[in-house]
Amino acid sequence: MPYPQRIRIVEVGPRDGLQNEPQAVSVETRVELIERLAAAGLPAVEAGAFVSPKWVPQMADSDAVLQRLTRKPGTAYPVLVPNLKGLEAALAAGAEEIAIFGAASESFSRKNINCSVAESLERFAPVAAQALGQGIRVRGYISCVLGCPYEGEIAPRAVAEVAAELDQLGCYEISLGDTIGTGTPLAAQRLVETVAEQVPIERLAAHFHNTYGQALANLHAVIALGVATIDSSVAGLGGCPYAPGAAGNVATEDVVYMLNGMDIETGVDLERLAETGRWICRQLGREPNSQVARALAAREEKGSSHA
Ligand code: HMG
Ligand code: MG
Repeated sequence: MPYPQRIRIVEVGPRDGLQNEPQAVSVETRVELIERLAAAGLPAVEAGAFVSPKWVPQMADSDAVLQRLTRKPGTAYPVLVPNLKGLEAALAAGAEEIAIFGAASESFSRKNINCSVAESLERFAPVAAQALGQGIRVRGYISCVLGCPYEGEIAPRAVAEVAAELDQLGCYEISLGDTIGTGTPLAAQRLVETVAEQVPIERLAAHFHNTYGQALANLHAVIALGVATIDSSVAGLGGCPYAPGAAGNVATEDVVYMLNGMDIETGVDLERLAETGRWICRQLGREPNSQVARALAAREEKGSSHA
């Protein structure tokens, strides 16, 4: 199978990234981050999470973020929703796309959303039905697809079963989360091949964290099979509060650089993206967790010192 000609990048930094930053980030900064990412050409920017602020305080005020956002036509701004209470709040704030998020691991499901995998699917059913009934698009996530912090290895078949259930609920796409970044390329391929027996590969997304430095290799392996949607986080921000030791998502800068080199279109302006990464890192007082961002910054510094 040839590589896809175009890949859709779902930018998850303002949600998956910021949910794991130790300090709270103001609504104003969150809004500016989302707007800058959309302006850099990202077709989807995850804007927040309507979860309990006791569980994830960093995502409090996601309603204010959505309401204050100046939306760029054609850009999607999905938000995480765990239950009907979250759906109600997301709809009131003007969400047009939501993501429900389950797991392939029982222990992770309990730690993350306080219920079993089966209970979570029961909980998601009315959420998805009500959202779809109101013309809201629903995306599905599965966590721990290539390993669990509490249970270790996860069978690809267990992931495929959850994917089939989310598909039944009406999710237009299923995002496969290597939450703790333990996956390696051949395991990622076996996973995608198994899940694709249940959900067509064109409707699968790869959501890989980079804890073990394998995310780009894993992405390359799955796009070779035809996966054409990638979740990533500007400057590699993030991690997961319920997955100790998990690093951020693969950096969007690194993904765009790799895809540019493969002549795969993304619509993203790498320079503008990298500038946004540097900007949010300055706000957070940290360095970009992206090799490409660091290389571009070094090149710019060298360029300006010659000027
Ligand atoms: P619970 O404690 O079982 O819920 O938590 P509950 O229904 O018993 O309610 C407890 C309290 O939470 C009540 O408030 C509710 O009103 C409130 P109290 O009476 O104590 O004051 N509550 C809510 N508040 C705001 N929004 C809501 C909401 N629901 C209840 N929607 C619950 C269950 C699902 C709420 C909780 O476990 C939760 O919020 N979990 C979210 C965890 C989370 O956001 N994790 C990170 C995202 S997942 C991820 O990062 C992985 C991913 O990136 C993919 C990958 O990498 O693998 C997607
Ligand atoms: Mg994640």
